[in-house]
Amino acid sequence: MDSKNVSRRSFMKSAAVAGVAAQALPLFNVRAQGAGRKFKVGLVGCGGRGNGALGNFLEAIKLIGAEAEVVAVSDVFKDKAVNTGKKFNVPEARCFDTFDGYRKILALPVDILILATAPGFRPLHLEAAVAAGKHVFMEKPVAVDPPGARRCMAAGEVAKQKGLTIVAGTQRRHQEGYLKMEQALKAGLLGTVTGGRISWCGGALWVRPRAEGQDDAHYLANNWGNFVGMSGDHICEQHVHNIDVANWVIGKPPVSAVGFGGRARRETGDQFDFFSLDLDYGNELHIHSMCRQVNGCYGGVWEQFVATKSTFWGGGKMATLDGKKIEVPEIKMVSGNPYVQEHVDLLNSIIGNKGLNETQNVATSTLSAIMGRIAAYTGELVRWSDLMEKKDSPFYNMACTPAADDFEKGPVVAPPDDVIAVPGSGEKKKPAKKQAAKKGK
Ligand SMILES: NC(=O)c1ccc[n+]([C@@H]2O[C@H](COP(=O)([O-])OP(=O)(O)OC[C@H]3O[C@@H](n4cnc5c(N)ncnc54)[C@H](O)[C@@H]3O)[C@@H](O)[C@H]2O)c1
Repeated sequence: MDSKNVSRRSFMKSAAVAGVAAQALPLFNVRAQGAGRKFKVGLVGCGGRGNGALGNFLEAIKLIGAEAEVVAVSDVFKDKAVNTGKKFNVPEARCFDTFDGYRKILALPVDILILATAPGFRPLHLEAAVAAGKHVFMEKPVAVDPPGARRCMAAGEVAKQKGLTIVAGTQRRHQEGYLKMEQALKAGLLGTVTGGRISWCGGALWVRPRAEGQDDAHYLANNWGNFVGMSGDHICEQHVHNIDVANWVIGKPPVSAVGFGGRARRETGDQFDFFSLDLDYGNELHIHSMCRQVNGCYGGVWEQFVATKSTFWGGGKMATLDGKKIEVPEIKMVSGNPYVQEHVDLLNSIIGNKGLNETQNVATSTLSAIMGRIAAYTGELVRWSDLMEKKDSPFYNMACTPAADDFEKGPVVAPPDDVIAVPGSGEKKKPAKKQAAKKGK
């Protein structure tokens, strides 16, 4: 039985009316999927999400009745690696603290690698995991620049050939409401999407100032959410979720992006605080994309679409234009928590040899976000073909430095703090505090 067809919630509901004997069947079926299986897992990146993802993985293991061993963990800060190790019973000798820690994990007998570092390292780590024949759960976004996104796509193809399972942390694709929306779309109940708008507007993220004597490599790895080469900027790091939903419902990435952004409040790093973009999907279909990280302003994380037969919200309300009720069959999940369900789907794919591989989806959405960022940074209209086909385009190889591979070769130099892209100039500068205006009479 497919995991998505066994709902814990509906199991509970039916159990209440049908009694214990009836309960046993679905539970038995869910459990049977993992019975007798033991998975060995490693984690790279022992921060908030790394610990969270490992916990979610172990919950999924329980739900399917399998067993797991956390073999090794890695973080470039010893204390973080060791603390996570203690939490998940990993001996200190297998809590690695170097930039090549992922290679040390890959040399051990692990089945699955969880990748939850700063996004800039994702293409390198994914490529190595796939080369080593490991299944992967990787957090979004999966790159910070066009070469990195293409590198992920290539690794995803190798994974396909090897029959490996790769699941990404774009958890909306494992969430009941969004899956219902997908079903309604596929059944033609919503019509064809003709436009929409997507938002990730919220407050400022954290700033992690440089510790005394800290080298550039560790400063970047720690304060990663403020450097474009580490996070891809927040359009990529957070708003990728919403862009992924737009690409999902439309069925392809934007043809081009044009728009703007700026920086008013950030203290460190080289990112913008806000973006507003027109994503052109061709055939007069446009999505307005906006994202902001500034305190004290409007906040909202959502996707809304207009279609020939309906208007609908990502994962939520769907309403036909003629008022007809939209009915889709119940989607039964093993877990109501998409952060757990994504690991259930990962494990079931491995057990059933299904080769679930989300690399192209997440890499395409990541590259769509990067396209928007380049458009805002440069002030130019940027086409998908600039990033995927035209090798002579100035954007094709627009790579961030230092590159992930550089961190293993020796000391790296961090980009200067508070120096940002200036649209229209082709340069990076300190943000102007005042704008020179034309003098009027
Ligand atoms: N799916 C979601 O909803 C969701 C939510 C939060 C974060 N995330 C993603 O998870 C990832 C991690 O975010 P976080 O909130 O846990 O950040 P975090 O800063 O709490 O954790 C990242 C950890 O990675 C470590 N690290 C950085 N570079 C490394 C390297 N090369 N090798 C080993 N360790 C390294 C850092 O020291 C840090 O401990 C990001 O990609 C983020 O976008 C996803």
